[in-house]
Amino acid sequence: MTQVSLTLNGNKVKNEVEPRTSLADFVRDHHDLTGTNLGCEQGVCGACTMIVDGIPIRSCLVRVATCGGTHVQTIESFDDDEIMIQLRAAFSTHHALQCGYCTPGMLATARDIVMRLPDADTNQIRLELSGNLCRCTGYTGIIHAISSVLKSRKENIFAPNTAI
Ligand code: FES
Ligand code: FES
Repeated sequence: MTQVSLTLNGNKVKNEVEPRTSLADFVRDHHDLTGTNLGCEQGVCGACTMIVDGIPIRSCLVRVATCGGTHVQTIESFDDDEIMIQLRAAFSTHHALQCGYCTPGMLATARDIVMRLPDADTNQIRLELSGNLCRCTGYTGIIHAISSVLKSRKENIFAPNTAI
């Protein structure tokens, strides 16, 4: 067994883990954070995407023993996140989910796109989402949802301030 200490959704945690325990299994099995789904468990589907030190990663491929000292954020940590609130509403409006299995990973990647690429067009959004598979929606709703959040954020930034 190996001891690992990291920050998980803002809380310091310390656990004994098997050296081969993945970050995905760690958050699900040791901390009951089951919002992150596991699909392929070989780095292909993106369902397990979570944020480590601000970067989206495939948590099925990462050994938690290598994550000492990092800041890990699972989907549960974004309840009050401004961008995630906008994305959740847009996913609902644009029918960007059906079974919902891919959705936590999609939202994690979508938030990264919104933060990093405010001028992304639909082609770039498709490219950025290429590591997240969805077997239900055909992706169109997901692309529209992310585009709509980018558009509304841009309009808010550039809207004339008419307040006196
Ligand atoms: S479960 Fe991690 S990429 Fe599919
Ligand atoms: S909504 Fe079912 S896999 Fe994406």
